[in-house]
Amino acid sequence: MTETVLLVGGGGREHAIARAVADDGALYACASNRNPGIRRLADEFETIDETDAEAVADYATAVGADLAVIGPESALAAGVADALDEAGVYAFGPRAEEARLETDKAYQREFMDENAIPGCPDYAVFDDIEAACEYIDDYDGDLAVKPAGLTGGKGVKVIGDQVTAEEAKAYLRDSDYDRVVLEERLVGEEFTIQAFVANGEIRTTPAVQDHKRAYEGDEGPNTGGMGSYTATGHSLPFMAEGDYDAAVDVLEAVVDALPDYKGVLYGQFMLTAEGPKVVEFNARFGDPEAMNTLPVLETPFLDVLTAARDGSGLPELDFSGEATVCKYAVPDGYPTDPDAGAKIAVDEESVGDALLYYASVDERDDGIYTTTSRSFAVVGRGDSIAAAEAEAEEALAAAGDRVRIRHDIGKADLVERRIEHMAELRE
Ligand code: AMP
Ligand code: GLY
Repeated sequence: MTETVLLVGGGGREHAIARAVADDGALYACASNRNPGIRRLADEFETIDETDAEAVADYATAVGADLAVIGPESALAAGVADALDEAGVYAFGPRAEEARLETDKAYQREFMDENAIPGCPDYAVFDDIEAACEYIDDYDGDLAVKPAGLTGGKGVKVIGDQVTAEEAKAYLRDSDYDRVVLEERLVGEEFTIQAFVANGEIRTTPAVQDHKRAYEGDEGPNTGGMGSYTATGHSLPFMAEGDYDAAVDVLEAVVDALPDYKGVLYGQFMLTAEGPKVVEFNARFGDPEAMNTLPVLETPFLDVLTAARDGSGLPELDFSGEATVCKYAVPDGYPTDPDAGAKIAVDEESVGDALLYYASVDERDDGIYTTTSRSFAVVGRGDSIAAAEAEAEEALAAAGDRVRIRHDIGKADLVERRIEHMAELRE
């Protein structure tokens, strides 16, 4: 029987999900932007605000969806999984209550504490901004300052890295945040592990390193992620034996504490001199990390989804073992002052063997237009990071001149710097 799958969301991550299910199931998709890549893969693409839980559930029912995959955290926070479950459509994505693991950073830390999840940094939660500023003054060491709610990865300020203590206090005082988390600054190299979770079971995927900073050399403000790479196998070049497994232990502890959790559980880790610590959890695939992971997953993603729904035991996962490099093209000025509404040219013919993923663009009758977020990504694959990087770079000939790219992602220099950084910390 052909399964009818509803995909919620219209970014690069969702284009990757669409590609992973389109060959095996009948795909319907809805998002607030018209993503040309998803639209072409789907039997039908409906423009619906993905945070309108009732509208999404009505659409799922109308198209006779057998199950749904929810891409963006905004939809999870809005209760889209709850509405779909109530409408009798299995949603691969946590209910709003469990998605608080991502959507409420104060809850996330308190949950870790209460359940003795390993890897939790020192932290404190404040509802009063002046009390938070006093804590900054009194704290012996650097802190990361985080609004408790969702900010698209752009709300965190790290003292001693991006800002001074004075700037962090000014940032808080100028903000309208009503709850903030202050936590020990973790020093090391970041990596992501995403896991498929359902019925108390967990299946993990290769570690990915994302690049949050806007400009080459890790300069500039934080973004949603400018690009990312994986190595051959499951680990990354700067990780030592045991680091991957230590991070997986953390994810397993989360699933033990949340036996009803379903969907993707994403762990963002800082590999410190003392091993992996948790920067945050997300309740969905990473964007761009989904674009590194799904193209090398050889087990049909639909098999994972149906096993999750049917409670029949998640399949063991097979991966191609290739390295991947993903590079995003973003509007000029992103993230602070993005040139939204610019018409961009994407020359699909020049992508070659690489994969092209459309992201937060809007397809209109006369072409493709930028929005305020990332526009499209290319992913190269190969038997080394260098080979994957070269394939991604060649494909970037597809990008016209109105977008910006971090060309350094996946290049030998940058990967080497990560290895040296970790070696210095571990001396
Ligand atoms: P988040 O929105 O929690 O992913 O944070 C965005 C980025 O801020 C992370 O990817 C890290 O680079 C940085 N960050 C967050 N928390 C910490 C921390 N405790 N120590 C150092 N950096 C952090
Ligand atoms: N790449 C970071 C995120 O998806 O939150």
